[in-house]
Amino acid sequence: MTSIRAIKGFKDILPGETELFARSIGEATDIVEKEMYTFTDRSGDLLTMRPEATAAVVRAYLQHKIYAQDPIQKYYTIGPMFRRERPQKGRYRQFYQINAEIFGVASPYADVQLIVMLVELLGRLGVTDAKPHVNSLGCPACRPDYRRALLDFLASREARLCPDCLRRRETNPLRILDCKVPRCRETSLEAPELAAFLCPECRTHFDTLQQALDELGIAYVIDKRLVRGLDYYSRTTFEIQTTALGAQSAVAGGGRYDGLVKTLGGPDIPATGFAIGFDRLAEIVAAERQIEPAVPKVFIAALGAEAQARAFPWLTALNRRGIAAEMLFEDKSLKSLMKRAGKLGARHVLIIGENELAADTGQLRNMATREQTPLALERVVEELQQRFRETV
Ligand code: HAM
Repeated sequence: MTSIRAIKGFKDILPGETELFARSIGEATDIVEKEMYTFTDRSGDLLTMRPEATAAVVRAYLQHKIYAQDPIQKYYTIGPMFRRERPQKGRYRQFYQINAEIFGVASPYADVQLIVMLVELLGRLGVTDAKPHVNSLGCPACRPDYRRALLDFLASREARLCPDCLRRRETNPLRILDCKVPRCRETSLEAPELAAFLCPECRTHFDTLQQALDELGIAYVIDKRLVRGLDYYSRTTFEIQTTALGAQSAVAGGGRYDGLVKTLGGPDIPATGFAIGFDRLAEIVAAERQIEPAVPKVFIAALGAEAQARAFPWLTALNRRGIAAEMLFEDKSLKSLMKRAGKLGARHVLIIGENELAADTGQLRNMATREQTPLALERVVEELQQRFRETV
């Protein structure tokens, strides 16, 4: 098997490709079949804009032989991903993911750690309507038995399946369980349950995961339909679902992918991880709380080139001191500068025109009270800092 390397000119940031994604995510998944942006670059290399990060993280872990130093590694990544899906609220063709991946730990406690991280994060962000859904997909030892049982069950129900599911029957029958078409959902309600087919090791893994979540007092839903849209999962799968986003209910998803490192040509090293949909997270947080737009503490209304030249260093000095200051670098009338300050919601306006320059004294106008106080231009930055200190 050829080893997959980073694209020429791309650098892995370590503490520390088309083929890569097809091999990792699975040839018969929606992502690989329909959603990848794949193109040939000028030198004839076939490239894919990454639809997810996990495969790429595994690729880097292998290419740099990090497992040889210490197989246990914990990574995070943040960045844009690309999938050609039908855009709608919460679903975009370019979106951001925050990923966490743990390599080298086979224990269900690592899965629980990840779920706890997500629950904690959402709690701290004030998201109340979010619950982990968990499932077990078994492993290569027990899943084939289930697959066969599922296919037997479906054999007599072909007429009730949508064209996509008829195709999935050949390629990826488990995906039929999470088809959104109502008739398929109804049909699969009566399907045999994967839980009944788990081998003793997978059973223990899933039981331990549930016990640990119970012990921590984390409410969760066992979701038999949670098969996920990527083929690399084994045993645990999970999603954090909310009702805040309409049809796009998952704000984060993940699971265990014990076989992937080996599939990509590495040693047999277990792994588990998640990705948060950052765009979805931002939408939920924005919906749950009012976010005040940032307003400048002071707007510098400098009239004319000379005043602007004098005032510009103050703008930089104030910003450096953490005082939000704004200025318009245009030759405008006092009236239009005041209008601009009002539009920005500035609390104060420092007025400097010809007269103020001559007197070496600016006017600081409080926008709420309309009071104006003279301010010595020599010490303007220090004065403003003094005034705003308590509120900085
Ligand atoms: P995923 O479920 O495909 O998993 O994506 C994770 C999250 O990314 C979703 O729950 C959702 O919030 C967000 N997301 C996915 N597609 C879109 C989209 N088109 N627009 C906006 N947000 C989207 C993975 O990608 C796996 N790599 C997760 C993982 C990491 N498993 C193990 N480690």
